[in-house]
Amino acid sequence: MKFPVSEIRSMFPSLSIKDDAKDRIYVDNPAGTQVPISVVEAISGYMLTTSANAGGHFRTSVETDAVANKAHEDAALFLGADTGKEVIIGPSMTALGFHMSRSICHDFQPNDEIIISRMEHEGNVGPWLTIAEDLGLTVRWLDFNRDSWQVEPDDLKSLLSEKTRLLALNFASNMTGSVNDVATLSSIAKDAGALVFVDAVQLAPHHYVDVKALGCDFLACSSYKFFGPHLGILWGREEILTRLKPYKGRCVSDDIPDRFELGTPQFEMLAGLSATVAYFENLGKMNSTSENRRELIKIAYEMSRNYEEPLTNTLIGGLIQIPGITIYGITNPNRVKDRVPTVSFRHNITKPSKIAHALSKKSIHVWHGHNYAYEPARALDLPLSEGVVRIGLAHYNTIDEVQKIITEVQKAVE
Ligand SMILES: Cc1ncc(COP(=O)(O)O)c(C=O)c1O
Repeated sequence: MKFPVSEIRSMFPSLSIKDDAKDRIYVDNPAGTQVPISVVEAISGYMLTTSANAGGHFRTSVETDAVANKAHEDAALFLGADTGKEVIIGPSMTALGFHMSRSICHDFQPNDEIIISRMEHEGNVGPWLTIAEDLGLTVRWLDFNRDSWQVEPDDLKSLLSEKTRLLALNFASNMTGSVNDVATLSSIAKDAGALVFVDAVQLAPHHYVDVKALGCDFLACSSYKFFGPHLGILWGREEILTRLKPYKGRCVSDDIPDRFELGTPQFEMLAGLSATVAYFENLGKMNSTSENRRELIKIAYEMSRNYEEPLTNTLIGGLIQIPGITIYGITNPNRVKDRVPTVSFRHNITKPSKIAHALSKKSIHVWHGHNYAYEPARALDLPLSEGVVRIGLAHYNTIDEVQKIITEVQKAVE
């Protein structure tokens, strides 16, 4: 499958910006990706010609309703859901988590149990710890395995009981990059009668998502991590969303998803979200004449993964050869399919902040710290103030950039 990276890069205006004549290398992608011009134009186009509130008879309001409906339908298509009614859109995954945890746990009783994996970003921890404190729920922690870097089914089984009401599960870690077998873990938790809430924020930029095949009940992601606008997206099963108690104003519609979307939506971002889904479809068209939109999205991910995986292996292979570097995550090249291209490491002498600072001087954009992977950092006994250096590739990065990063990390630790 061809992946014409130069052509793809030319769709992203920010990729050609230089700082002091140096090309920017964006590998801060796990914290947010760059945006193609088509998405920017959809956002500005809405603001220039359509801006209005929803629900009126006049033209811009009617068009705004259409923009909002289309964004929900497109997000449903993107995630493999049947209908946009199952898609709740809000400002961020974290905001949706805090909001929806109140509804999801509304009928939980004191001493009911929820299981949270230790692979989570704080966005899939904070909401559950808070509601557990409010309702007197018991929290059980599900560790990840230090060899596989994944959550193991047997470890989940040992925590389940007739009191388990919910499993909060990471799909791909924003620190280690490892991907959990969500279908298997979901089916184990569902057999025990628990609801399953999956955080796919770091998976969706790299792997195709099919909520129906996964068997979970909720799945969250954020479009700014996959070339789109700053929005959070939460898919939930229709029959569950219909029966949950909504926390909403009295005159708000009781239909789904309206009953869970608070206040005026970010309509311009919704226009950008549809353009983001179209970006994936257009990538798929580079290798297919199919007119099936879902099929095109699937092909886009296949192309992207075929391209990203060798880059990931080159990055890891180069970093582990630098004396003193430890990578926290899967390093076996044969297991590249079990991870996303987010690579976190520490050096035995040079601090992460110092390495990140040295890289920034070379226009290499990286993050350091725990990056809200607070539980994984604690589980790995990492100093929380320094954490790790995190290099996260996206499909617009190139092999030349990867080589340059390796060289510059080497210099930074010398
Ligand atoms: C795995 C994971 N979950 C959740 C979040 C939170 O997403 P948001 O910023 O949309 O709240 C992040 C953000 O980095 C993340 O990496």
